[in-house]
Amino acid sequence: MTRTAIVTGASSGIGVAVSKKLVELGYNVMMAARRVDRLEELAKELGDKAAYRATDVTNPDDLKALVEATDAAFGQTDILVNNAGIMPLSPMSGRRTEDWDNMIDVNLRGVLHGIDAVLPQMAERQDGHIVNVSSVAGLAVTPISAVYSATKFGVRAISDGLRQEMTGRNVRVTVVTPGGVNTELADSITDKNLRTALEAHLTFDFLEPENIADAVAYALEQPASVCIGEIVIRPTGQA
Ligand SMILES: NC(=O)c1ccc[n+]([C@@H]2O[C@H](COP(=O)([O-])OP(=O)(O)OC[C@H]3O[C@@H](n4cnc5c(N)ncnc54)[C@H](OP(=O)(O)O)[C@@H]3O)[C@@H](O)[C@H]2O)c1
Repeated sequence: MTRTAIVTGASSGIGVAVSKKLVELGYNVMMAARRVDRLEELAKELGDKAAYRATDVTNPDDLKALVEATDAAFGQTDILVNNAGIMPLSPMSGRRTEDWDNMIDVNLRGVLHGIDAVLPQMAERQDGHIVNVSSVAGLAVTPISAVYSATKFGVRAISDGLRQEMTGRNVRVTVVTPGGVNTELADSITDKNLRTALEAHLTFDFLEPENIADAVAYALEQPASVCIGEIVIRPTGQA
C-alpha cells in the first residue's frame, strides 16, 4: 500500500525538498504551512500524490484538522515530518521576548501538536514513523542561540523519549539534526545587524535542502525493524 506522509513547513527550504523527494519515492504527501500560495504551486508541480492544507503549527486544532484532511484524502497517516521552524537568533540581553515565545510556540509546541495529532492512530495501528527536525544548535549552544538551542535540545529530548516509549508499539521516531542549510531560515532573524554579522562569520558552504531530504528518506526507507534514532548532517566545512 502507498504510504502517506505529512510534511510541515513545506512552503520553503527543507520542507519543499522533503515533499519532492517523498513524492519521487512514491509516497503520498500532505504539505502543510501558512503560505498556501506556495503550497498550491508545489502541489500542482507534484501532481496527484500531493495535497496541501493551510496550517499554523502553533494551533493544535490546525494539526488535528491537518491529520483529518490527510486521512480523508489518502486513507491514513503513516508518517509525520515535523519540520516547521523559525530561528530568530539574538543575545538574551536584547530582550526580544516575542522572538523567544515564537520559537517556543513553533519549534517546540508545534512539534508536540503534530505528535499529539498523529500518535493515537499510529499507536493503535502499531505502525508509524515520526521524523522531527532539530539542529546542531540542539547539540551545542552559542551566546546568540540560547532560546533557539533550548527548543532544538528540546526536540531531541522529546524525540528520544517518544522513541523509547513507542518501542512496544512499533512506532519509529527519528530526529534529523542539520548544520547549515541554504534556505530562507535566516529571514526569521529580527535583529538585522546580528544577521549581517552572522552571515559574514559563516564562510563555509552550506548544505542544500535536498541533502536533508536524502537523510529523511534514508530513515524512512529502512525496514520496519530498523529505527534510525538520529542523523546529524553538517556541511563538511562546518566545525
Ligand atoms: N537552514 C538551516 O541551516 C537549518 C539548520 C538546522 C535546522 N534547521 C531546521 O530545519 C527546519 C526547516 O527550516 P528551513 O531551513 O527549511 O527554513 P525555511 O526555508 O525558513 O522554512 C521554514 C518552514 O517553516 C514553516 N513555518 C514557520 N512557522 C510556521 C508556523 N507557525 N506554522 C506552520 N509552518 C511554519 C514555514 O512556512 P510558512 O511561513 O509558510 O508557514 C516554512 O515552510 C526548521 O525546523 C529549522 O529549525 C534548519
